Amino acid sequence: ALVEKGNYRHFMEKEIHDQPGACQHTLSAYLDPVSGRARAPDGLDFSRVDRIQIVACGTAYYAGLISRYLFESLARIPVDIDVASEFRYRAPPVREGTLCIVVSQSGETADTLAALRWCREQGLSTAAVVNVHTSTMAREADILLPTHAGPEIGVASTKAFTSQVAALSALAVAAASAKGRIDAAEEARLTRLLLEAPRLISAALALEEPIRALAPELAKARDVLYFGRGVMSALALEGALKLKEISYIHAEGYPAGELKHGPIALIDEATPVIVLAPSDALFEKTVSNTAEVMARGGPVIFITDEEGARRAPAGVRLIVAPGCDDIVAPLVYAVPIQMLAYYVAVQKGADVDQPRNLAKSVTVE
Ligand code: G6P
Repeated sequence: ALVEKGNYRHFMEKEIHDQPGACQHTLSAYLDPVSGRARAPDGLDFSRVDRIQIVACGTAYYAGLISRYLFESLARIPVDIDVASEFRYRAPPVREGTLCIVVSQSGETADTLAALRWCREQGLSTAAVVNVHTSTMAREADILLPTHAGPEIGVASTKAFTSQVAALSALAVAAASAKGRIDAAEEARLTRLLLEAPRLISAALALEEPIRALAPELAKARDVLYFGRGVMSALALEGALKLKEISYIHAEGYPAGELKHGPIALIDEATPVIVLAPSDALFEKTVSNTAEVMARGGPVIFITDEEGARRAPAGVRLIVAPGCDDIVAPLVYAVPIQMLAYYVAVQKGADVDQPRNLAKSVTVE
């Protein structure tokens, strides 16, 4: 089918705005608003899964990294995660009861496909979170875990990423229930919270103007640092990747607590720092790390919610995202970091949809 940009300047911009619908369609494949239940597809029985091995590349890897927090904290299933190009060569010992989950927009990435085949050869059960439902991974995995983002054209992944996070979050709730870690009331509560994601993502899209206003200054930077704690440390990696991919500015993501073990040496007046700081249980610690950055003259863009804005350190540039529960925060905070990368790239006149040296789907190792 022919996909059009409509009134948008780039596919990436359109795809950022497609996210409420993409997440909505994806979530409704796994969550039932009437019964309040999360369901895994037939053939996937999480009560028999003792361990999860996630394998992916690029943005899909970061979606996997985010989901690890949920599978471990909610379902108490230990998760190993590897980038696909390293996984087979690490030759990890294989244990019965391990479910291998590959995550891929295209379902064709050579390394991820090779990892899937390796797991099958080892006799592990396999599942594939894929957006292209007719892809090789979709056909070869034991279980298809579809995302419903629709065709993604921009090389830098946006709606496929949030759809992967949405699907995996819903599956983590299903796993927690199958493992008896949460009762029916808690399952219904988490289901309800996840089903609010599309509305919250729409609300986050309203941050477009304040974010666009930051672009001229950020476009001048040579290096940008992203940091956060917990699940936000994984999103920090995705934020840095987005900026590198389309604006060619060097960027790094770091867990906030790890800053003092290296990256803080990079901070000066010319190095913007993006802090992902929802007002969650780790907020105060993120604030102290931010203060350390500010003491060294680093300009800080502090992405938080209203509650966090009241408690933010003085002197930061605030971006106030919609308030939300922890389980949906990665979906909500993905939006400002995508828009930030987008407007910086536009400001620099870069080819947003076709960044240099990158391919939408990498079918060679
Ligand atoms: C390429 C794309 C990225 C994508 C990665 C994995 O590097 O440019 O946007 O995240 O491949 O692709 P996949 O189709 O497996 O998700």
